[in-house]
Amino acid sequence: MTLSIIILAAGQGKRMKSSLPKVLHPLAGIPLLQRVVTTATALAAKNIYVVYGNGGGLVREAMQNLPVQWIEQKQQLGTGHAVLQALPQIPDNQTVLILYGDVPLISKKTLQKLLDTAPKIGLGILITERPNPFGYGRILRDVKEKIIAIVEQKDATAKQRQITEINTGILTAPAKLLKAWLPKLANNNAQKEYYLTDVVAQAVADHCEVVGVLADTLEETQGVNDLCELSKLERYYQQQQAQQLMLQGVTIMDPQRLDVRGELTAAEDVTIDVNVIIEGKVSIGSHSKIGPNTFLRNVQIGKNVEIFPNCVIEDAKIDDGCHIGPFARIRPGSELAKNVHVGNFVEIKKVQLGENSKANHLAYLGDSVIGKNVNIGAGVITCNYDGTAKHVTTIKDGAFIGSDSQLIAPVTIGENAYIGSGSSINKDAPANKLTIARAKQVTIENWKPPKKKSSST
Ligand code: UD1
Ligand code: CA
Repeated sequence: MTLSIIILAAGQGKRMKSSLPKVLHPLAGIPLLQRVVTTATALAAKNIYVVYGNGGGLVREAMQNLPVQWIEQKQQLGTGHAVLQALPQIPDNQTVLILYGDVPLISKKTLQKLLDTAPKIGLGILITERPNPFGYGRILRDVKEKIIAIVEQKDATAKQRQITEINTGILTAPAKLLKAWLPKLANNNAQKEYYLTDVVAQAVADHCEVVGVLADTLEETQGVNDLCELSKLERYYQQQQAQQLMLQGVTIMDPQRLDVRGELTAAEDVTIDVNVIIEGKVSIGSHSKIGPNTFLRNVQIGKNVEIFPNCVIEDAKIDDGCHIGPFARIRPGSELAKNVHVGNFVEIKKVQLGENSKANHLAYLGDSVIGKNVNIGAGVITCNYDGTAKHVTTIKDGAFIGSDSQLIAPVTIGENAYIGSGSSINKDAPANKLTIARAKQVTIENWKPPKKKSSST
């Protein structure tokens, strides 16, 4: 049957104590709501509706690329009322699945199980056992173990509060049934809200089957209410990712000290030292080593690469056998060919560095095309910016740039050219020749040191 998904995200999220709407807070780099939408999309739903309210403008703006339809719930009158706002959009013959925008780790597998197990004419609800069920709706069963109702924490009797089987909030039913049940909800309860959970009692009254399906893990049904809960889920998620990587043959020196906020693919025998942060899409080829305290965002790293400690690398490609760092900064648009060495305190931006080229110490290289086997001495600077525009420095194969030279772009250094140390080069330097551009050294023979004035006392 055709599936439509409603994601509830209109709650205020007051306990986050944040100006950012709750569902925009990131978990492992991705906003909570986006995670839920991604999972919903994987279920091949015909339509995904997001019910928004508080901070809705911000949420819609931030998430405008998501493949969803936005439904406003002007007043937050309860979960039942929220679902009711989206229902008119959904044809009677479809199945509806209700998810929460603040339950970010719900898995496709568990949802598929719920959809497959739910009765054709009735309700499927995702439940779980919680040793500490405080705050959750409790599942009430009759003597035959049939689910007969859900009672909210605030409405529950002392005895009911001892029940540890709880409602995760996620449920599925045919649109036709929800359309019959929801308009009949009342709000004569402790919170004066229209509870979605009251459809269970209605289903029972209508002799419809109610099936409870157990979630695979506790964490995937965990909602985020405050920043403490968010951080717990973040740590859980990171631990899961680290475990997966280790099972794929990646050595992680300390799984508690790796953060993958995006997508990391790593081949066999990769080693990742402590305090490494991965953002966006990062891939690491076999036998490469990532040193401690390194930040990688959208980086493609080849085989046998060694990144020494404390490097920051963004939007770059690093080919096999390169050595980077310690303390190197590689900025967007840089491509390093095989066996390139970039050493300490070297910053490079939008640079192509050819095979076997080296910039081992203290240099700034920007907007440059550098050939093979080039040696960049310590303290070399490509002066790429004239105050209004950026210009390109081209260095051909085999050139040697002496220490502390400035290459004032646009400028080209020819093949196997040799630039004398301390040169300021603002004209092209020819191939195979030594070019020096610095003041001539003079020594003043009868120079006398200045006399100190005697200090007046
Ligand atoms: C709800 C369930 C409870 C369940 C718990 C699981 C009800 C009445 N209770 O309680 O049985 O154990 O979730 O976490 O459903 N929302 C709206 N509009 C509203 C109210 C809420 O969109 O008017 C959204 C919230 O943004 C949130 C979700 O619905 O994503 C749940 O709302 P919340 O107030 O957190 O419900 P709980 O009291 O936790
Ligand atoms: Ca909640």
